[in-house]
Amino acid sequence: MTTANVTWKSRWTFILAATGSAVGLGNIWKFPYITGEYGGGAFVLVYLGCILLIGVPVMIAEIMVGRAGRSDPVHSMAKLGREADKSSYWGVVGAVGIIAGLMIMMFYSVVAGWALEYVAQSVMGTYSAASTDEIESNFSSLLSNNSQQTIWHSLFTLITASVVAGGVAKGIGKAVEILMPILFGFLLLLLGYSWVNGDFSAGLHFMFDTDFSKLTGEAILVAMGHAFFTLSLGMGAIMAYGAYFPGKTSIGKTVLAIGALDTVIALVAGMAMFPLVFANGLTPGQGPGLMFVTLPIAFANMNGGLFFGTIFFSLVSIAALSSSISLIEPGVAWLEKYGVKRTLSTFGLAGIAWLGGLACIHYGAVFDALDYITANIMLPIGGLFIALFVGWVLPADTTAAEVSMGRGLIFKAWRIALRYIAPAGILLVFLNSLKLI
Ligand code: PHE
Repeated sequence: MTTANVTWKSRWTFILAATGSAVGLGNIWKFPYITGEYGGGAFVLVYLGCILLIGVPVMIAEIMVGRAGRSDPVHSMAKLGREADKSSYWGVVGAVGIIAGLMIMMFYSVVAGWALEYVAQSVMGTYSAASTDEIESNFSSLLSNNSQQTIWHSLFTLITASVVAGGVAKGIGKAVEILMPILFGFLLLLLGYSWVNGDFSAGLHFMFDTDFSKLTGEAILVAMGHAFFTLSLGMGAIMAYGAYFPGKTSIGKTVLAIGALDTVIALVAGMAMFPLVFANGLTPGQGPGLMFVTLPIAFANMNGGLFFGTIFFSLVSIAALSSSISLIEPGVAWLEKYGVKRTLSTFGLAGIAWLGGLACIHYGAVFDALDYITANIMLPIGGLFIALFVGWVLPADTTAAEVSMGRGLIFKAWRIALRYIAPAGILLVFLNSLKLI
């Protein structure tokens, strides 16, 4: 069966699956810690600007291409390129995206493995009633325990592969429908906890006071890269999901809903963590361990912390799962076109990612490099080409018909964003971070 024969049950299921892809470790783990590293407010502002001006238009473009092509990213882009009497070489953008997806999966599954380890630790009460110092050193000892990390990383990769092998259209929709609201509910609960027990106003100031002197070229690049990462853009995940998008319903509103949910969840995660960081004398710039240190500290002091900790880290693992399946799916859909059985392609691709994950566990530099190259370089460049493709290569008549939002102001604004704003923005940020401007 090819992708073209399958559709989501409804537009709502698509929203949940795409939101499941978008909402993940990027929101709960990465956003708070990079905001911490790059100094807060001004960084958040640039990130929000990138979501609105670049992320949302590119997401509409990706879904449109997927739905119009009704195939994996490589074939969808090649087909539309050919139909527009231009080149089918545009498929290369999809192919690079597939590789980027696997590269992300390599370090993503390691972090998701940490979350699984913390589920186990919560259940066993490892950090309950522990001191701040003990909790901090607990995380560093996990990082130096390679076999422990390998077990969890392997388990997470295996679970991801089993879901993808079972097919996306069935199962995932149902799962995210139940899980996403629970995740949101628990984040709100934690927000309440940090309101009561944390230094909430210090957290607010940190996240929303804009001090532009802290905004380096590097910070802007990371903010833009993260906008792509958190919305799952620039590598074909959303495009692959778009191939199953039913009917001709308008894409614009759908994307606004996904973008808003993703952004709110990131901001809530930040506001649930920073007040606790400040109240416990930790530093916001403490890097990837931020979530694995601040939250256990909160749970250690909390009535029912054992229960909440278990639930919270389970949900983080689940949020990671609903994202990781979309990292593998584009490659699987592509191989399906050549008649490769889903099970074989899924386990083959997951196997490659698994090997890369081992490298990440053993060499921290590999982890950092994969994270940096994918989010800050590959995804923005992928997004740039998708914007150019839909903005300049495809005729306006085709895009207008496919995107189903009429030809009014919103359509015009979207096209301007794709033709000028997104490409110029991405290029400027690159040149700036290369210190060329
Ligand atoms: N958006 C996911 C997150 O925020 C990560 C991701 C990136 C998933 C790219 C798919 C594609 O965690």
